[in-house]
Amino acid sequence: MSFLAKSLSRVKPSPTIAITTKAGELKAAGRDVIALSAGEPDFDTPDNIKAAAKAAIDAGKTKYTAPDGIIELKRAVCDKFKRDNNLDYTPEQVSISTGGKQVLYNALIATLNPGDEVIIPAPYWVSYPDMVLLGGGTPVPVETRIEDNFKLSPAALESAITPKTKWLIFNSPSNPTGAGYSRAELKALTDVLVKHPHVWVMTDDMYEHLAYDGFEFCTPAEVEPKLYDRTLTVNGVSKAYAMTGWRIGYAAGPAELIKAMRKVQSQSTSNPSSISQWAALEALTGPQDYLDMSRPIFQKRRDLVVDMLNKADGLICPTPEGAFYVYPSIAGCIGKSTPKGVKIESDEVFATELLSSTGVAVVFGAAFGLSPNFRVSYATSESELITACTRIQEFCASLN
Ligand SMILES: Cc1ncc(COP(=O)(O)O)c(C=O)c1O
Repeated sequence: MSFLAKSLSRVKPSPTIAITTKAGELKAAGRDVIALSAGEPDFDTPDNIKAAAKAAIDAGKTKYTAPDGIIELKRAVCDKFKRDNNLDYTPEQVSISTGGKQVLYNALIATLNPGDEVIIPAPYWVSYPDMVLLGGGTPVPVETRIEDNFKLSPAALESAITPKTKWLIFNSPSNPTGAGYSRAELKALTDVLVKHPHVWVMTDDMYEHLAYDGFEFCTPAEVEPKLYDRTLTVNGVSKAYAMTGWRIGYAAGPAELIKAMRKVQSQSTSNPSSISQWAALEALTGPQDYLDMSRPIFQKRRDLVVDMLNKADGLICPTPEGAFYVYPSIAGCIGKSTPKGVKIESDEVFATELLSSTGVAVVFGAAFGLSPNFRVSYATSESELITACTRIQEFCASLN
C-alpha cells in the first residue's frame, strides 16, 4: 500500500510548468530554445510597485497580517470592483490570498463535498480539474469548438447541469485560448444559470486588463445582478501588473463563503506575504500607466503570431480577444510524418517533435482538455516571436 494519499493519484503535476522546466534544461545544455510556454508577462514589475514594497520593508510591515489580508488592500479591492466592474462589495466580502490560484483552491476546498460536480469549459486552465479533484469533487469538462472561437454555448451549459452541479468555473479572457466573451455572449450563459439556482459561479477574471481591439470586458455578477449572491469574482495582480512572483490574488463574494475561505487559509498558509500585499495595494491604487503601455505591445504581438501561424501548413489560428495566448488547431497536421519518420498522431507528439527539432517549446492541447491543438504564449519579444513562428512554419512545411 502506498504511503501517499489516494486523492493524489488522479492529480497531475502542472504540464505547463513541466514543459517550461524542460525548455529551461535544454537551454542550459546549450540548445537554442525559444519557450512559448510560460504563462507570465515578460515585462518587469513597474517601479512604483517595487518602491511600495521596499517602503513596506523599511517601515517594518514584515509581520503576520490578518489571515485574508490587510484592511487597506481589502478596501482597495472594493474600490477596484466598483471602478472597473460596477460591483459593490464591503471588506467582509473580500479575500486576499497567495495568488489567484490559492483563491480558487480555498473556494473549492471550502465548498466541495464528495460527488459535487464542477462544470469546466474545455479547453481550460490546467489547474481547474486537478484542484476540483483535490477538493474531493468531480470535474465535468464541457468541450467548446474552434468554430465558436472556443466559447461555451448556452445549450452545452444547460445540458451539463445536473442536480449535483455546484459550480461553473468561468474564465474570460481565457487561458489557453485568449477567448473573451462579449456582454451578449455572457448574458446568454447567465440566462441559463438564472434558471438553476443551485449552481454557483466562480469567475476567474485574471486577464481582465489584457484585452484588445477595444474589447469590453464584463463579468457575470455585473452582467446578471441576480447572480450576485452566488458568484465568487476572482482576480489578481499577477498577470495585469507583471507580478507573478509576488503571489497576490483576491476575490469578492458572499460573506459566508469568504469566511469559510478564510478558515481554510488560516489553517494552511496563514496570510499572503505582508510585503506583497503592500505592493499590490500600490498596483491597484497607484498610476495605471503600465496597463496602457503593455496592452498595445501585447496586441501587436497577438496580430503577428496569428498572422504567421495561419500561414503555416495545416494550422488554423483564430484571433482571440485577450490574454497573451493563442490556441491553433493542428488538425491539418495529424497523420503526417516528420522527415525522421515520426508520425504526428497527437498534439503531444507534435509539441515533442517541434521542441526536439526546432527548439520551440509550446504546450500541447491535451494538457488543456481539447485536442488537437497547442498553446502559444506570446509574452516574449517580437523578434523571438518572429524566429519561433518561422521555425513553426518550417516544421509544418517539413511534414508529409
Ligand atoms: C486563468 C488563470 N487563473 C489563475 C491563474 C493563477 O494566477 P496566480 O499566479 O495569481 O496564482 C493563472 C495563472 O497562470 C491563470 O492563467
